Amino acid sequence: MGLSILIGAQWGDEGKAKIVDYLCRNIDIVVRYQGGANAGHTVVLEGKKFVFHLIPSGILHPDKQCYIGNGVVLDPEQFLKEIEMIEKSGISYHNRLKISALAHVIMPYHKTLDALRETKRKNPIGTTGRGIGPCYADKSSRNGLRLIDLYSDKLDEKIEANIEYYNYLFQNYENYQPLDKEKIIKDYQYYAEKLKPFVDDVAFLVNENLDQGKNILAEGAQGVGLDIDFGTYPFVTSSNPTAGGAMTGIGVSPLRVDKIYAIMKAYTTRVGEGPFPTELLDETGEYLRKKGHEFGSTTGRPRRCGWFDLVFAKYSVMLNRFTDIVLTKLDVLDGIDKIKVCVGYRTSKGEISRFPVSLDELYEITPIYQEFDGWESVEGAKTMADLPENARKYIDFLEKSLNTSISIISVGPDREETIVRK
Ligand code: GDP
Ligand code: IMO
Ligand code: MG
Repeated sequence: MGLSILIGAQWGDEGKAKIVDYLCRNIDIVVRYQGGANAGHTVVLEGKKFVFHLIPSGILHPDKQCYIGNGVVLDPEQFLKEIEMIEKSGISYHNRLKISALAHVIMPYHKTLDALRETKRKNPIGTTGRGIGPCYADKSSRNGLRLIDLYSDKLDEKIEANIEYYNYLFQNYENYQPLDKEKIIKDYQYYAEKLKPFVDDVAFLVNENLDQGKNILAEGAQGVGLDIDFGTYPFVTSSNPTAGGAMTGIGVSPLRVDKIYAIMKAYTTRVGEGPFPTELLDETGEYLRKKGHEFGSTTGRPRRCGWFDLVFAKYSVMLNRFTDIVLTKLDVLDGIDKIKVCVGYRTSKGEISRFPVSLDELYEITPIYQEFDGWESVEGAKTMADLPENARKYIDFLEKSLNTSISIISVGPDREETIVRK
């Protein structure tokens, strides 16, 4: 099987973690390839809920290796909290959890800047406040600190230079409090010690394991609509959740890739600001939010809900050439009389079926819907035959329209509430 990539194909929170955990039965190693603690990945195991922000969602399988790739921005404080959480749950992580020495480290000033810029923006992005954008910006401008730098003799010097720069920047904001240099250095020396057992050359380990015939799953965070290049910029995150991001985010060749899984919800959600063509601001939107428990796993914010958007989904398919689609949260559509799917966009210049590159154009469009008869319940379905006929029709329509096989269907949060299509 080799290397598989698992991507959120909409605007995040598609149920990626549940599917990572499910696919783990045939996987040896799970590697996160981008994003940071902005992610909130939920796995429900025998009724117990685990939310991971940094640790790969495969960690609940005691025999699997879990890596954090160089493409991730690592918040040491958050990582240590997660370690504590899994330790308390009696899950052993020793010798099976590694972080790339090349991963960039989130610093306190990244979080401060993230918050400050949000308060100053005329149109806030609605970030998670986890310092993601500023950390990736420092990486690109070559002022960042990588995990490996925490072990350098010059660590103090590097931190000091950044603190000087950020203090200069922050002094123009009201309620300015200079950064506490001594405290930050001390904290990061402490983190360096704590993280030492996990630091490794992840790109080497990934390639070596692939050479030995192991199966590796690259776990994406966020989703295609939040991609820094192809998403609804500037209402995006600062990394590439799309397939290419997995190559640079763990250090593998595209020739290694065997499967690319798209995780798609049977409807759409988005958390934070930005265009959302099929958003429902009525009682149906409220129904989906309630039934789907659509509240952010990281920030607790209510997620915006709407119908499935085929125009966007086709764009997502084009960008990633998925081998498989996993359709999640089908159960949330239970009990809805008429289910709609957006099949095109109406603009002042006529109908379009291609996702526009211009945000202005996107804000202007009106979705064109096709209606489907609903069904009562998909609860307890183990096979396609167990599903109500109308649910099967809905799946078939999406599959044909996207020209990609929907090979797994999720009908509930638990591992076992999953249908694998033969
Ligand atoms: P991720 O960020 O893509 O991993 O998704 P999140 O964990 O942020 O959000 C998905 C939520 O839906 C979590 O609470 C999951 O437990 C839950 N979930 C996943 N699959 C299903 C499903 O098929 N049905 C229902 N009802 N909930 C699901
Ligand atoms: P998972 O992996 C949904 C959104 C934020 C905001 C934008 C930028 O759980 O699917 P950032 O903090 O990254 O600078 O915020 O991206 N966002 C997510 N939305 N799921 C996520 O992760 C997200 N991570 C970031 O709400 O709109
Ligand atoms: Mg999430």
